[in-house]
Amino acid sequence: MKRYLASALAVTTMLTTPALADDAALREAAKEYFEAIPMNAPALPSGEAITREKVDLGAMLFFDPRMSKSGLFSCQSCHNVGLGGVDGLETSVGHGWQAGPRNAPTMLNAVFNIAQFWDGRAADLAEQAKGPVQAGVEMNNTPEQVVATLTSMPGYVDAFKASFPGEEDPVTFDNFAKAIEAFEATLITPNSKFDQFLMGQDGAMDEQEKRGLQAFIDTGCVSCHSGINFGGNGYYPFGLIEKPGADILPEGDRGRFAVTETADDEYVFRAAPLRNIAITAPYFHSGKVWDLKVAVDIMAESQLGEKLDEGTIDDITAFLGTLTGEQPQVVHPTFPVSTATTPKPAP
Ligand code: HEM
Ligand code: HEM
Repeated sequence: MKRYLASALAVTTMLTTPALADDAALREAAKEYFEAIPMNAPALPSGEAITREKVDLGAMLFFDPRMSKSGLFSCQSCHNVGLGGVDGLETSVGHGWQAGPRNAPTMLNAVFNIAQFWDGRAADLAEQAKGPVQAGVEMNNTPEQVVATLTSMPGYVDAFKASFPGEEDPVTFDNFAKAIEAFEATLITPNSKFDQFLMGQDGAMDEQEKRGLQAFIDTGCVSCHSGINFGGNGYYPFGLIEKPGADILPEGDRGRFAVTETADDEYVFRAAPLRNIAITAPYFHSGKVWDLKVAVDIMAESQLGEKLDEGTIDDITAFLGTLTGEQPQVVHPTFPVSTATTPKPAP
């Protein structure tokens, strides 16, 4: 009787669960779309060298709130290294306690994206780093003031000299951005369960996670979320098949339209990178969705016109959890001390 029950259960499971390709076949299928994150920082697309000195300087600049006008906000305020690189807010809060228009994406693995920001308006991390310092709702500073702040502290001047040897006047806003770029290139999260599976370890993912991977491929998520970062490499209308309501996709933010001013780019956004997605809620550029399962459900309907059943949503969500990699262990830097000539924080 027991045996009968067991085999009946097995048949029921087979009927309700789509057949899984074996591990080797699933791995081969996955390799067509995805790549593992390397263990070490990749070369920068700009060709700029990544040196120890530059990375250390970049870390100081990333964490130092004196780079903002108020002396309160640093990159770390909104891209918390201990929180998966995000602030966990619907939209970020910056200078003067103003809420910005968009959710902060993680800077972890951002070096692998073809362009930065939800709309891809910055070509690379160095160009990107110049934005938030000057943005009124973020750090509200000016390049001149940043350079004046840095020049006022011998510790910073020495660090710039060591990072950019041979340059006559190394304390520049361009070099500020280059040092941050070098630091950010080290903020990668290798060795996730998925990467271990991709590299040959069958046991790294459990059955549900493997079913989720298969469903992620079969449902068509891979058509936009592929490559090393599961996204960050192409632009698509949010609402390709069915436009989500204004509660999820606020009408005022028309995405790449603001960059290209082309009608075709209305509500077009960069396919969001999905590495570490399980630890970077809330979701979408509006930050309106807190539950990853709900985000998966919305994506399937809006981008693919598919109404997924609950089991498949659970499986895909479990699979997305395998994209959480080893988080960078960063020692909080000690900053050079302010001097009499360091510009004072201002409201
Ligand atoms: C976007 C780094 C400061 C909020 C980004 C991205 C990076 C980054 C790399 C793009 C990630 C991607 O597209 O996947 C930095 C650095 C900063 C800094 C290096 C310091 C110089 C801040 C601050 C805030 C903030 C202080 C909050 C007040 C945001 C938001 C976005 C963003 C909201 C998305 C903006 C959009 O797409 O329009 N940041 N960030 N960032 N960051 Fe920062
Ligand atoms: C965003 C998953 C299919 C394009 C997202 C996000 C998730 C996700 C979780 C939120 C990322 C974040 O907030 O950081 C999925 C899943 C899919 C799927 C599970 C399959 C069921 C697609 C397809 C496309 C696409 C087929 C392209 C046609 C995008 C875009 C965004 C995004 C453009 C950014 C949306 C925004 O501006 O907020 N996806 N996706 N996705 N996905 Fe997908």
